Amino acid sequence: MARRKGLLLDRAGLVSAALDGLQLSGWSFEVAPTLACARELLTGGEFSVGLVAFDAADSWPLRELEGLLSRYDVEWIAVLDRSLLDSEVLAPLLRRNFYDFHSLPLEHDRLRMTLGHAHGKASLFEKVAPQQDDEGRFGMTGRSAKMLKLYRQIDKIVAVDAPVLIGGESGTGKELVASAIHRHSARASKPFVAMNCGGIPASLIHSELFGYERGAFTGAHQRKIGTIEAANGGVLFLDEIGDLPLDLQASLLRFLQEKTIVRVGGTERLKMNVRVIAATHVDLDRAVAEGRFREDLFYRLNVLHLVVPALRERKDDIELLAQVIYDRNQDLRSHQVRGFSAEAIHAMAAYDWPGNVRELINRVQHAMIMSENRFINAADLGLTAAEAPVPTLDEVRNTVEREMIESSLKRYQNNVSATARQLGVSRVTLYRMIDRLKIIV
Ligand SMILES: Nc1ncnc2c1ncn2[C@@H]1O[C@H](COP(=O)(O)OP(=O)(O)OP(=O)(O)O)[C@@H](O)[C@H]1O
Ligand SMILES: [Mg+2]
Repeated sequence: MARRKGLLLDRAGLVSAALDGLQLSGWSFEVAPTLACARELLTGGEFSVGLVAFDAADSWPLRELEGLLSRYDVEWIAVLDRSLLDSEVLAPLLRRNFYDFHSLPLEHDRLRMTLGHAHGKASLFEKVAPQQDDEGRFGMTGRSAKMLKLYRQIDKIVAVDAPVLIGGESGTGKELVASAIHRHSARASKPFVAMNCGGIPASLIHSELFGYERGAFTGAHQRKIGTIEAANGGVLFLDEIGDLPLDLQASLLRFLQEKTIVRVGGTERLKMNVRVIAATHVDLDRAVAEGRFREDLFYRLNVLHLVVPALRERKDDIELLAQVIYDRNQDLRSHQVRGFSAEAIHAMAAYDWPGNVRELINRVQHAMIMSENRFINAADLGLTAAEAPVPTLDEVRNTVEREMIESSLKRYQNNVSATARQLGVSRVTLYRMIDRLKIIV
């Protein structure tokens, strides 16, 4: 078995000699007497577990220590005298940054078990870290069935040049899809120009789309190119197309049919080569039925149709998305934050996400800045904890230990020596565990 590597931060040499004496098989430790030395070792080596010895509450400059502990993917175990657990300065730091603690004096079996658990946890994190390549496609994150279907549709859409209508709730990623279509189509080297039809006063939309000549109206001091012309050769993304006033719908339809424009105040008819991608978060069918949207324009735009799924319809992706958002926003992270708690992941899965991915981004960013915990919890995300509480690692560990001990005791007809031998612990340790886990022998 490859030796596991541990780091020991030991300012006063309190623990290193004792640790040597224990001769823990399968483990090798490097000792750092200062934080600077620890930083150097951590940068170079692959440690899964670190021990930090405290001889007093102020053994280490705490802020610097916390900065160091939170920066590396190492499971930390505090080694200290039990009395220090009550220290007002030390206790919160321990809670935020440490996986477990080991009270002095060092004990071979107890330490080996704690180290083993911490190492197991560290390897678990390594395994679940998402692989870059399988996160998604087209710059989008998601591997759910709904997203895979969307990717297949995009694959077809990038191969042709017809208009596209993208539907989907607010914040689902409609603009992201539009720009992905552009980047993966034959028009990729030409412009992508976005215009929000709902964000511009109705009176200005026409000149915004078609541009104007100098002197076309008061204040038109020089010629201005419109968004259609700016997108020539490339893609024009018309966001919130449902907000386009009816008279402009007629102008847009004419442009789509004739593929030409005339700037406001101009006479020249200019030939344009633009692919239009439109998006809407409202139900355009209904707008057509109610006479608010021209049916002929609807059919022109709706040659290719995509619906970006709401986040609640692809719950499988939530954890992955949250992790990707977390990884991309490391600069926002409060120094002790190390990831999400299981409770947070449950709460995210249970929530409905009316604001979709945009809301998820906001909540994760907020939590990364404001959380005072080592692992972001539901409250940090502004969510309520899901009904069934997730067991803590301690609870899981206790359950597994209890089950193993009980089955082994049964096998050896409650013979403690034989059970201890099979489980690889001393009799004293086994007695202590039986006591702690309230096992009836
Ligand atoms: N699948 C995804 N993977 C990663 N990021 C995403 C995904 N979908 C959306 N986003 C991000 O979510 C945010 C909102 O996306 P976008 O602006 O494309 O949504 P929208 O549907 O256009 O929203 P609205 O209707 O409010 O305009 C953006 O920051 C975008 O990068
Ligand atoms: Mg948008």
